[in-house]
Parts: sequence; structure tokens; C-alpha cells
Amino acid sequence: MMSSPLVPAEPAAAGDGTPYSTTYDDVYHTAHGGLEQARHVFLAGNDLPARWIGSDSFVICETGFGLGLTFLATWQAWRESKARGRLHFVSVEKHPFRRDDLAALLARYPELAPLSRELLRQWPPLTPGFHRLHFDDGRLTLTLLFGDAQALLPQLVANIDAVYLDGFAPSKNPGLWSSALLATVTRLCRPNATLATWSVAGDLRRTLEHGGWQLQRRRGFAAKREMLVGRLENGVTCPRSGVPGTQSAPAPTSFMAQPPRERRAIVIGAGLAGTAISERLANRGWHVDLFERHAAPAQEASGNPTGILLPHLAKDDALAARLSRACYLYALRRFADLTDVRWSPCGVLQVARDAAHEALQRATVQQLQLPADFAGFLEQDAAQAQVGRPLAHGGWWFPGGGWVSPGSVCAALLAAGGERVHTHFGTEVSSLRQTAGGWQAFDGAGALLAGAPHVILANAYAANRLLPHALPLTPIRGQISYLPDRFAESVEPPLRHVICRSGYITPPQAGTVCVGASFDSGDADLQIRAADHAGNLQRLDELLPGAARGIDATLLDGRVGLRTAAPDRLPLIGTLPDTDAVAVSAATLDSVPRRAGLHAMLGLSARGLVWAPLAAELLASQLDDEPLPIERELARAVDPARFHLRALRRGT
Ligand SMILES: Cc1cc2nc3c(=O)[nH]c(=O)nc-3n(C[C@H](O)[C@H](O)[C@H](O)COP(=O)(O)OP(=O)(O)OC[C@H]3O[C@@H](n4cnc5c(N)ncnc54)[C@H](O)[C@@H]3O)c2cc1C
Ligand SMILES: C[S@@+](CC[C@H](N)C(=O)[O-])C[C@H]1O[C@@H](n2cnc3c(N)ncnc32)[C@H](O)[C@@H]1O
Repeated sequence: MMSSPLVPAEPAAAGDGTPYSTTYDDVYHTAHGGLEQARHVFLAGNDLPARWIGSDSFVICETGFGLGLTFLATWQAWRESKARGRLHFVSVEKHPFRRDDLAALLARYPELAPLSRELLRQWPPLTPGFHRLHFDDGRLTLTLLFGDAQALLPQLVANIDAVYLDGFAPSKNPGLWSSALLATVTRLCRPNATLATWSVAGDLRRTLEHGGWQLQRRRGFAAKREMLVGRLENGVTCPRSGVPGTQSAPAPTSFMAQPPRERRAIVIGAGLAGTAISERLANRGWHVDLFERHAAPAQEASGNPTGILLPHLAKDDALAARLSRACYLYALRRFADLTDVRWSPCGVLQVARDAAHEALQRATVQQLQLPADFAGFLEQDAAQAQVGRPLAHGGWWFPGGGWVSPGSVCAALLAAGGERVHTHFGTEVSSLRQTAGGWQAFDGAGALLAGAPHVILANAYAANRLLPHALPLTPIRGQISYLPDRFAESVEPPLRHVICRSGYITPPQAGTVCVGASFDSGDADLQIRAADHAGNLQRLDELLPGAARGIDATLLDGRVGLRTAAPDRLPLIGTLPDTDAVAVSAATLDSVPRRAGLHAMLGLSARGLVWAPLAAELLASQLDDEPLPIERELARAVDPARFHLRALRRGT
């Protein structure tokens, strides 16, 4: 599904000052007060906060985020209710406001100031797709779906408890009240879900009743005589997500029984993948036993002093580009929120390789109409001015990108995970055994290390040793070079941004400038090679002509690591397939038998800093049966069973 560029909302006001949409010729809320309307219609109409009080996890879905008043009213009520569980608020918006415009609109509500400030701080660049934001230490999650509800809601994987129908008047905004859209929302609802809306339009009532809703009219807000509430008495038979881990998926007989919903997991590997999933699970109240064969985290691929953070763009906004964008924007928010991450969102310039690539870069930005706070194209003059040095071509400019110390991310994630993450350093897991209650991990001498209902393989290429022949993972050797101190001192003007092309250079950190990196697929050798340093100097020279002059490759220091990649270079996130079981059919990922309780956080390839945070959030959401943070088709694209499905289809 190609996404269309977003058209932001333009702020306007009706004669009485109520926020108004020129596109839809309607007001965002009644003149009698948006907040009061939200409380009366949507909160009270869904019997909230009473219904979320006793719930571990409660999911609200809203059609039309607008100014976010309904969301903010809900958040405020959530805080005041002192609920102990987690609240998910999913809202779709075709025309989001730009951050400054939203700030001006919300400034009219001083009583909401602390909440609005936090919403605005995290407000994403206006790019299409899902954006997941966390508030109140993760107890409240907002998933914003930027784009047309008709395209995006079918991509949502969720079990909804309460629905807020809040489009503009149905006559002016029929798309948001269509029977197809209401059927989609209904399919996503749990049995006994409720809905509320200010509209009592006849067509709406008939469509909802036809969809299984028991409706009731109630007193409307202010001048409105009536409003509508509904309950989905018995639920509807809903074909579920197709994403493993979602609770109510119809279980083909060949599926193994899901492990008990006891929230304990063994995680193997304490690099970016393992620390990220441990923290996400701990944040949800899980207890994790994290095993790492080294004496400390981040000693292998995640041990480079710096890595670079930028998204992948594609002119057709293909699936990998959309996934990369969602992951990149989420990673930026996570790194900003974690304590003591060493990083700098100093901006990344991706210089074009040649004139043809430059033309493609320019056309991509024009085609996708990306907002400048996410990505832009700088012509050669502007690019040179940006980085203060001569360049061969212009390039993509990512103002929020930068460099990150992966080791500091791992440490920060472990600190955030707190006592719920029990670390076992210097302990290698040598084998796994499935039991009635889940999984057991053993050391090389056959001694039991731990048992838990779930085990998560986050041990990169070494996962092949634990599950021989089951995983399509290849090592990709990579060597980085540290430039001599005098380089950092002599380079004028000082490097302030990351510059990349086929290689990359980062601004100095404690005097060290990193240049990378070699890329040798299928090579797992960990020895430093002078030839690879020479290759890195060549990459440096392509980036900054003349900069490598006088540097002796044989005297350089550096580091080697292994990237771990799947054939399609996308990560493997989710429950592993059971390749020994007989599949009922080879039709879809839903029909692939799974190894209950055995999950992957693997194949982060050359972009672990970008993938890891959202990949961990995705897997934790699957394990806890929460709304997924990305589109269903993106979750399927990283499903570890995709290769097995292809093999089944080929009959191999
Ligand atoms: C040269 C190079 C440059 C890179 N540059 C960038 C970049 O600029 N930007 C970017 O985003 N990404 C970059 N990457 C990729 C990024 O580093 C990886 O994607 C990421 O670090 C992978 O994290 P991981 O946790 O999957 O693997 P790892 O960090 O390798 O972690 C796996 C861990 O599992 C442990 N382990 C393995 N087997 C066992 C076992 N049986 N029991 C216990 N522990 C075990 C290992 O000791 C290891 O600590 C680069 C990679 C390389 C090699
Ligand atoms: C009445 S306003 C919502 C007000 C909002 N709940 C609030 O608290 O401010 C309706 C919103 O629906 C959005 N909208 C209209 N059609 C849409 C569609 N097809 N998909 C997604 N959003 C849509 C509009 O842009 C508008 O922001």
C-alpha cells in the first residue's frame, strides 16, 4: 500500500472563535466547549473511567484526532482515576496540524498545559503511517495513524474496548462514517466493547445496528438533544490480525497451544536487540532473565563507539522505507527519553553517489513531499554550506538524524528495565528445550540456567547455533577505522554533522573520529585487516575529497563486528515458525505453525540503531496482546515465518 503525502490542517476559526476546518466546512467541536463535550459524549458515553479501573490493559480507538482535545481529556481522566493498568489510545487523522499550529490551538486550554506540552514535545513530523508515543512512563500509549482512516484502520491490529466516533458532520465528512469503515472498526472490537458519538444520524444508527451494536440514545451535550451510545453485545466474528501473539486469532489445529500468560521471559543476548526487548517487557511488568556470554552488554556488533542514525527513503515509499521511517522516528523519541544515552541528533547528510543518484534523491523528496523536519534534498551549494566543506554532489538532509553510541543505549535500556531485568553476564546459553510450561535454557555442561514460558533469541548470528538450519541468517563482516587524533584537531571547519555515502564519518567524540565501514557478506572473520582500513580511507576520500591524504592505513586502529542479516535485509521479529510441523495450508502467515513461546529479535543487519527500539515495542505488544505499533503489512514483512511460508508455497 503506497502512502499518500499528508496535507496538514490549516488553522481557522468560525465566527465565534471555535476551531474550524475549511476543508470540511465544519467546526472541530461545539461552541459550548470541546473539553466538556469530550467528557460528556466520549468518556461518560463509554462509561469511563469506571470501565478501565479494573482492567490491566484498555484500548480506545478514536476516528479523527483533530486538536487532540478528546485525547487530552481522556488522559487527564486516566491520571485522575489512578488506574493501575495500561491505556492505549489509537487515533486516526487524515489532516494533522503542524506542531506550531497545534501549540497555538492548545494554548487556549491552560488547564491542560502539562499534558499538551508533553504531547507537543513528542508530536511527530507529519509523515504518513503509524506513530507510537508513550506517556506517563509507558502507562499511556498513543498510537497516531496519520493518513486516511479508510486506508489505515484496516491496517490496525488491535482489540478495542471503546470507540469514539468523532468525525465532522456525516453529511460533510461521509468518508469517516462509511459503512465499510464502521465495519472495520467493529471487526477490531472485543465482545462487549462500547461506542459513543454525538451523532444520531439515521444512516449511522442503521449501519451500526446491522453491524451488531445495541444502541441507546442519551441526552446530548449542551444544545444537542441526543447522542448515541452502543454496546457490542456478543462481539462479532472477526478474522484477526494474522500476527502471532494476538490472542483471539483463530487457531489452526496444527498451532501449538500458546504458553501460559505468565509474564516471564528468557532473553538471550545483551546487544541492542536483547536490551531493547528486555526493557520493553519490563516496562509492561514482565520479569526477564537476560543471558549474555560476555561479562558486559554490547561487546559484539553493538560495541562500536558510534553508529549513525538515519532512515531509508524510496521514491515509491516501498514497504522497507515505510518501516524504516516508523522505526527511525520512534528511535529518536526513545533515545531522547532514555537517561544517559550518548548521542547527538546533529543532522545527517547523505551525499549522492553520482549525478543520477542525485536526480533520484531530488525526485524522491519531491514525490513524497516530505516535511522539512524529517527529510529534505539539499542542492550541492546548500549541502556544502550546511557542512562547511566542498562536496561532489548534493544530498538528502535528515535534520533529526545523527550519531549514537550503541553501548550507551544498551546501558540506558538496562537501567530503565530496572530490577525486573535480571542480568546473567558471562553466561552462555548452549541449548534450549521445550517443556510443557514453556522453555528451559542450559549451559554447555547441561546445567539448567532458567525456565520461562517465553524465550527470545536476541543473539544475532549466534542464534544459528541454538537452532541449526532453522534461521535464514547470514553474517556480514564490518570493520570501522578510528582516525588519528591529529585528524580531529586539524580538520577545518570542525565536523559538526554526520556525512555518509557508501561510507560514513561521525563528528569527533572524545577526540575519536569514526569512519566506516567495510561490508563483506558471508564473512564471519573477526581479525582486523589493513586492507579494510585502506577501504575505509577510500570511503573517507569519497566523502571529503583529500581528507585521507597522509593517513597510513597500516597504523590505524579500529574494530570488527558482524552484522546479521536475513535474505531480504529486514529484521525477524515475532514468533518463530515450527518447521517440523505439518502446515494446514500454505495460504498465509496465519496458517504457518509456530513454536509457541519461541520468539526472535534477530537480523538487525546494518541498521540496529534504527530497528531495535520499535522492533522491541512490536514484539512486546504482540506478546501482551496490545495494539501493534505499525501497520499489519509491516508487521507481516518482519514476521520470522515469512521464509518458511515461501518454502511451503514452493513445496520445499
Ligand atoms: C562495522 C559495523 C558498523 C555498523 N554501523 C551501524 C550504524 O552506523 N548504524 C546502525 O544503526 N547500525 C550499525 N551497525 C549494525 C548494528 O551494530 C547492529 O544491527 C546491532 O548492533 C545488532 O544488535 P544485536 O543485539 O542484534 O547483536 P549483537 O550486538 O551482536 O548482540 C548479540 C549478543 O548476543 C550474545 N550472545 C550470542 N550468543 C549467545 C549465547 N548463546 N548466550 C548468551 N549470549 C549470547 C553476544 O555475545 C552479543 O552480545 C553496524 C554494524 C557493524 C558490524
Ligand atoms: C471533529 S474533528 C475531531 C476532533 C477531535 N477528536 C478533537 O479532540 O479535537 C474530525 C477530524 O477527523 C479528521 N478526518 C476527517 N476525515 C478523515 C478521514 N477520512 N480519515 C482520517 N481522519 C479524518 C479531520 O481532519 C478532523 O481532524
